Amino acid sequence: MLYVGIDLGTSAVKLLLMDETGKIHKIVSREYDLSFPHPGWSEQKPEDWYAQSIDGLKELLSECDKSKVAGISFGGQMHGLVILDKDDNVIRPAILWNDGRTTKECDYLNDVIGKDKLSEYTANISFTGFTAPKILWVKANEPENFARIEKIMLPKDYLAYKLSGVHCTDVSDASGMLLFDVKNRCWSKEMMEICDVKESQLAKIFESYEVVGTLKSDVASELGLSTDVKIVAGAGDNAAAAVGTGTVGDGRCNISLGTSGTIFISSKTFGVDSNNALHSFAHADGSYHLMGCMLSAASCNKWWMEDIIDTKDFAGEQKAIDKLGENHVFFLPYLMGERSPINDPYARGTFTGITMDTTRADMTQAVLEGVAFALRDSFEVAKSLGIKIERTKICGGGAKSPLWKKMIANILGVKVDVIESEEGPGYGGAMLAAVACGEFASVEEAAAKLVKVVDTVEPDAELTAKYEERYQQYKKIYPALKPIFKAIG
Ligand code: XUL
Repeated sequence: MLYVGIDLGTSAVKLLLMDETGKIHKIVSREYDLSFPHPGWSEQKPEDWYAQSIDGLKELLSECDKSKVAGISFGGQMHGLVILDKDDNVIRPAILWNDGRTTKECDYLNDVIGKDKLSEYTANISFTGFTAPKILWVKANEPENFARIEKIMLPKDYLAYKLSGVHCTDVSDASGMLLFDVKNRCWSKEMMEICDVKESQLAKIFESYEVVGTLKSDVASELGLSTDVKIVAGAGDNAAAAVGTGTVGDGRCNISLGTSGTIFISSKTFGVDSNNALHSFAHADGSYHLMGCMLSAASCNKWWMEDIIDTKDFAGEQKAIDKLGENHVFFLPYLMGERSPINDPYARGTFTGITMDTTRADMTQAVLEGVAFALRDSFEVAKSLGIKIERTKICGGGAKSPLWKKMIANILGVKVDVIESEEGPGYGGAMLAAVACGEFASVEEAAAKLVKVVDTVEPDAELTAKYEERYQQYKKIYPALKPIFKAIG
């Protein structure tokens, strides 16, 4: 049988066709606009996600035996607020995970309601990108839109709704809304009250590997598919990527180097970081996970390459980098503010330590290293909780760079396992569809059978020591600049 995984990303939707042996038959991608209507704001049109997904699906399925397509599932950018009116019209553009407009609402939630209460209700505190503060922002700033809200949904759930007609979400993605009681895997009554939201406006909750419905007849005939095709809940992109890299069960780690950068640690048991620097979310395999999320990761490199030095030859630029661990230039990757672990929407990107002999390669190197150093910040939080991580998987666009993987292995001091397919969320989405259709007894079984490690990047003692020194210097830059960031707004 064939399974479709839809990775609804921030720069593009990627669609992947996989069979029951895990073989990828085809990958198709379609881009859409991302708009920044004000500094720190980030929006997209849900209608674009759907139109591009349907267009991509047509190409994805153009050469296969369509009667073999059994299920479709998702890995989607998390936290985005999609609101529909009573006629299912999108009320306003979606406010995305990397949007920083809700500082006032976060201050209210964290300081007036209180972090202790939020953590008790949801296992998390408020971050500007989370969904609940966005609902409060719409209420305060666009009351006419707030009054029209019939349904509240997350980005990938909008696609599931358009395909199946079912208003659904899954536990991993719901975890990032700050409306969800992560420990008990249900909506939080207290948070609904705080956000002035009724349960009827929220979606029905499923485990990620559960069937939510079948393909609507109009969509089935547009795609040439049967109405028996199962639509499966899917997961937030990080949980889906974890499934796709085999980061399931207890104590496994995955790093995703996409637009955002995340460190994801799977856990059989529920646990909360007492400082709430790491998120505590439900996992797509039926258990839990901790996660640190930096808002700009591979996007820093893309910005530097394409917008600043005006090249698309990422590999060519990296070839000129030959002094690992000796760079005197540092880069803070806070181009959209930062979430984990510093939770500072005012933080900004900087180059520090530039001199007359600084080269273009030094600056490119600083960008790649800055992202790895910032990942290490979240990694240090995990270590401080007593979590031991000796190896990690890696996925996302940035994982295609051998140099970046080497930097990460040496900056974090871990073995980096490279897997056959780096298509994290799309592959994980297809795996969740296969589990829901009965191809595997569990997500863990699917991961054990389908995910293959093909190489391991080992840290080198000498380079790790050099990077340790650089990291200790890097760590001093943000605290020194923090008051300046706030002052310049
Ligand atoms: C996770 C997060 C990002 C987005 C990116 O908390 O905000 O990783 O899911 O798509």
